[in-house]
Formats: sequence, C-alpha cells, structure tokens
Amino acid sequence: MAQLVTVAQTGLVAVVTIANPPVNASTQAVRVQLLSTLRQLEQGSDIRAVVIRCAGRTFMAGADITEFDLPELPEPHPNEIHAYLDSMSKPVVAAMHGTTLGAGLELALSCHYRVADAGARFGLPEVKLGVIPGAGGTQRLPRLVGLLTAVQMISGGEMVPASQALESGLIDAVFEDDLAGSALQYALELAGTETGPRVLSHRTFSADEAQRIFAKQHLEQLPPPDRGGHARRHAVEATIQAGQLPFQEALEEERRRFLLCRDTDESKALRHAFFAERAAARIPNMPANASLRPIQSVGIIGAGTMGTGIAMSFANAGLPVILQDLSEETLTRAGGLIRSTYETAVKKQRMSAAEADRRIALIHTTNDDLQLAGCDLIIEAVFEDFDIKKAIFRRLGEIARPGAILASNTSSLDVNVLASCSGRAADVLGMHFFSPAHIMRLLEVVRCDTTAPDVLATIMQLAKRINKVAAVSGVCFGFIGNRMLEGYLRETEFLLMEGATPSFIDQALEGWGMAMGPCRMIDMAGVDVAAKVVLEQRKAGRLPDDDSYRIVVQRLYERGRFGQKAGHGYYRYEGRQPVEDESALEIFREQGEQYGVRQRRDITAQEVVERCLYPLIAEGYRILEEGIAYRAGDIDVVWLHGYGFPSYRGGPMFYARSVGEHTIAAAMERFASARGNRYGYWDIPESLAKALIA
Ligand code: 3HC
Repeated sequence: MAQLVTVAQTGLVAVVTIANPPVNASTQAVRVQLLSTLRQLEQGSDIRAVVIRCAGRTFMAGADITEFDLPELPEPHPNEIHAYLDSMSKPVVAAMHGTTLGAGLELALSCHYRVADAGARFGLPEVKLGVIPGAGGTQRLPRLVGLLTAVQMISGGEMVPASQALESGLIDAVFEDDLAGSALQYALELAGTETGPRVLSHRTFSADEAQRIFAKQHLEQLPPPDRGGHARRHAVEATIQAGQLPFQEALEEERRRFLLCRDTDESKALRHAFFAERAAARIPNMPANASLRPIQSVGIIGAGTMGTGIAMSFANAGLPVILQDLSEETLTRAGGLIRSTYETAVKKQRMSAAEADRRIALIHTTNDDLQLAGCDLIIEAVFEDFDIKKAIFRRLGEIARPGAILASNTSSLDVNVLASCSGRAADVLGMHFFSPAHIMRLLEVVRCDTTAPDVLATIMQLAKRINKVAAVSGVCFGFIGNRMLEGYLRETEFLLMEGATPSFIDQALEGWGMAMGPCRMIDMAGVDVAAKVVLEQRKAGRLPDDDSYRIVVQRLYERGRFGQKAGHGYYRYEGRQPVEDESALEIFREQGEQYGVRQRRDITAQEVVERCLYPLIAEGYRILEEGIAYRAGDIDVVWLHGYGFPSYRGGPMFYARSVGEHTIAAAMERFASARGNRYGYWDIPESLAKALIA
C-alpha cells in the first residue's frame, strides 16, 4: 500500500501529513493509515500533542466521491476515526490550507483545535452532490458555531473564508504565513500546558428559541424534495436534531439520511454533473504534457455589453485587457458599466475598494486597433454581422503578433470562414461567452476544422483561470447550446399557436425545473436578437426555407415587440414583471389561423415539457453522432451552466437516460403521427432509435 500518511516529530509534537494528490480526498487507504497512525501516537509516551496537515495544494477536500457508488463505504468509516479522536488523551490540531471541504472539515471538527492560513476556505458542500454531511458535520458544526451559522453553511454548501471562519469560532487562529511552522508552534505550546483535548461531541447543545425559529423558517423556504430540495431538507433536519437527540443517536440518524440521499436521482445527477464538468476540460488524444501558449494579455474588439462583460471576466482573474471599439460613445458607456459593476460589488461587500480599483485599472479602453497587436489573445465581440466579422479577421491576420490566438465570440456564424479570412487558420477558434459574460460560467469553445491542438488546449486551461466551465463544440449551426435550443423554441411557438399562453408554457417548464421558461427567456434576451438569428440562419440554409418557420418571433419583431427592454414581447411588462398580454395572444391566434393550426384546450403541462424537451434532447443525440461534442457529458455541462437546466436532473443527456431513451423515442413517434413530421421535426436520431428496437 502506498505511504499516504507520514509522521515527523519535533520535540513533544508529532506532525501527521496526509499526501493523497490532487485534493487529499479521504479514500479507504487514507483512512486506514490515518487511524493506525493516530493509535500509535496515542500510545507514544514521548508525544504530548499532534498536528494533522496535508501536503500539496489543499487540506482534505472531502470524501472520495467515487466511493459513493459502492454499496457501503469501505472500512474504516470516517466516523470511526472521529470517534477515536474524541477518545484521545493528547490534543490534536488541524492545520488547514486551501479548501477544507466535506469529510475534510468533518475531520477538522473532530480535531481538538483548528488553525489555518489566511487564504484557507471551509465548507460542507455535500448538498451540491445531493447528499448531506455524513461523518458528523451536522452534529459537530452547530456545537461549534451555533445552529444559525451551521444551517446556513450546510444547507447552502458554500465556502467561507478564513476571516469569517475565525469570527464564527469555526477556527481558533489564522496565520498570515508559514502555516506549518506556526501550527507546530501552536501545538508545542499546547504540549507544554495542561490544556488537553476539547471534544465537540462531549458538549451538550441546545439552540435558543430565535435560532430554532430561523432553522424552521429556512426549512420551509427550501425547494420541494423532487425539485432539488431533497438533500437540503435532510441536511437542515439533521442539523436541527443536534439540539434534540443525544450525540450518538443523532450521528446514526445523520448516517441514515446520508445513505438515503446518496441513492436518489438528485444525487446521481449532481455527481454526474460534478465529474462531467471536469471531464469536459479534457481534450481527447491531447498529450498531458502538450505545451501551451502563454496568455499574459488579452485584447477585445467591440465594447458592447458582451465585450465589456468579457473584459471584466479577464480582469477578475488579474489579466490586463485592452478593450477596443471604434465608437468613443460606446467606449465611454463601457467604462461606465465597468465602474458601476465594481462599485456595486464594493457596496455589497463582495470586494474591497482597493481590489475594485485594481481590476478597473486592468482594463484599458482605446479606439485604435493597433494597440491590440501585442496581445496574446484577441477576442472579437462585435454584433452578429458576418461581413463585419470577416473584415475584422482579415485585419487581425495583418496586425496581430505571430502566434497570437484569435477568437470570435459569435453565437451562430461559421467560425471556419472567419479562420480562413485571418490567413492563419490554425490560430483561430470560437469563444462563445454567455451574457452577462462576467457572471455566466459557461464558455463554449468552438474548435474549427483547422484549430491547432495547442490553441485549443491553451484556451481550455485559460477558461479555468477565469473561472469558467468550458466545453468544446465543433462548428455547426448554433454550436451545442443554441442548436439544441432551436427545436425547443420551435415547439414553444407551435404550442402558442395552438392556444397555450406564454405563462402556461413558462410555468410548465419552470415547474419542471428550468430556471426560466422560453417566452420569458426570449423577452429577456431580446425578441429582435432571436428573430434576426432565425432570418440569418434561414438565409444561410441552416433552417427550413419557409416563411412560416418560427413565424411567431418574426411577427413580434415586426410589431416592435422586442421583449422586456421594449416593455412588451411575448408578455407585457410592468417594470420587470411579465404580465399576460391580450394583444400578444391575439398575434399567436392570428398566426395559428393563418397557418391552419388547430386551436386546443387540452394542452397539459406534461405535453409542454415533452414537446419542448424531446426535440432538444434528440438534437443532442445528433450532435454526438456527428462528433460535434466529444461526450454526452459535455452537452450536459453546456445546458447546466448556460441555459438554466436544473442541476438535479443532470443535464439533457443524463435526463434522457434516466427517463429512458425508449420512452423518449416512443413519445417522438407518437408526436410525429399525431402532428405530422414536417421537415423531419420528429425524426428520431439513429442512436436514439436503437432504444425502440432494444
Ligand atoms: N473525490 C474524488 N475526486 C475528487 C474530489 C473528491 N472529493 N474532489 C476533487 N476530485 C478530483 C476531481 O475530479 C479532479 O479529477 P481529474 O483531475 O481527474 O478531473 C481533481 O480531483 C481535481 O479537482 P478540480 O479540477 O475540481 O480541482 P480544483 O482545484 O479546481 O478544485 C476543489 C478543488 C475545490 C476541492 C474541487 O475539486 C471540489 O469542490 N471538490 C469537491 C469537494 C466536495 O464536494 N467535497 C465533499 C465530498 S462529499 C463528503 O465529503 C461526504 C462526507 O460528508 C462523508
């Protein structure tokens, strides 16, 4: 067995180091070695205190999630280690750096003292994997920080920084530098006194009335169990039990709930999402040691909302940006937007004023494109006009330094053509950000037929640096996300013409779990933007050449109903509040009559969900068949991070497998025979059709 736990002794203190890269997850081997090490140290007569630390980039970041698929956690269970710590006569100090998460924090809570460096962060993120802390977290944390803070941390799953952890009592000391040396000193001092272990499980705990009321209210506000609230409800209920049951009984109850959660669809979906996100960063057949191009400076062409958001994404990661636009007015507006965004962050105490100033100073605006010449990466982010974009790529081919990476933020145009315009096609790819670009985490990286492997690898690594979740798409209409969106929106329009109202459709899909229904979504993104995409793509032969295709969005556009910004679109707006609008309903009816669509009163929420989602899923299968996406999980990542697909359903491809491919294919067959199969709308992709035969 590899040596994962080692001990070094200084005076009366033993320093235990866990080294299980990359994140020191609590695997069976780690647990076996840690427990036996602690037993030996407890026996050692020349040891008066113990420090537990981790090597590498972080203290233990949790249980090994891959062990969740086993019927039972291989022994010893973390609770056995924690119980042993509770019984030890020598004080044990956890010395933490990086991210102390899940079972890592539960280990630290079982130690008797906790110290950390200033950059450390702490959390119990189990609910994000659809489970609850399963090794005493729900019982020890409230005993240390109170019910209110514990409920917030356990139910939200977010990390808290060292400063906040110190304030709440979660940790005892923060050291600015030299954690190892300072923790050793801390333990040496403990060893020299009579101060023994402080054992959380020995504390009795009862929350005061106000905290109990808070916890109860918090519980009431959580989503229902079948809408992503299953684990969170169990997590809060288990935490409340810290004040109701004896420690050991509550610990067993926590374990029971953990196992219950682990086997739910919610947890399976969330675990799939966790690993899919990380797998999406990997490019098949790319050698691990492939050399990457250094990116130290970024140029952006186009200072509209998109370009400005992209600029802030890079500034947030500490990268200098040159934001170029021909219009002084646009540049001034961009400067204002950047300032106000950071000022708001300062007001909301999300960053210090000094940090905001530093980021603002990283973005330099100019109308001179020659200033971009020295940048390592130049991203074109002007509006969707193919001729203008082509001209920009010709120009970039002339001015950019040799080896610079050239990217387009287009959401729908052919990046292969832009690559060839540049005259250096190997250096070009698509970087499709989602609006607002400094907030939305998805980045669709579009691989052209000619993109050099090191260019692709560099951008995937850069994505991580700017805190984006990236997935690679080949070049096709709409790439992965918008291509799949098309069938979803097309059925939305048919449903409207059949008599379903925007609010009925939106509520059906939001009730199912989508963050925002399709009508509200287009109203927000702009009916004009959506209509122009349809017109352009029809012209380019990528959508049916038929005037009636997506006629609803075109009619709304012609009548100036551009969506929320215009005060009306699919809805009428009272402030930001969408209200059903009779004149919009009239347009849908008119179009229905004109194109002979039968009005119906029997449309159910389930029909809305199936008719909108199944074409979307079917397109996902085609995308895989064509090799546009490397893996099904990449498609899920796109929908989870860019389109508000509910994470507890794992993404469209995961959902298809959990509902059953056969069910989906059979429903598509049914819709085709009931509704006709114009333009092959209900064609079942080959890989999905197999489910009908199987
Ligand atoms: N188990 C297994 N593998 C894990 C893991 C875990 N808990 N955490 C990370 N990994 C793996 C990742 O899959 C990835 O593998 P790969 O290189 O093969 O793709 C590798 O470690 C590095 O992870 P990241 O790419 O995510 O590295 P980052 O530095 O960006 O992030 C992190 C580090 C913040 C620790 C992040 O990995 C993370 O959030 N991990 C999950 C933490 C977590 O959820 N912990 C709780 C687990 S549940 C639990 O503890 C139950 C307990 O209560 C009993």
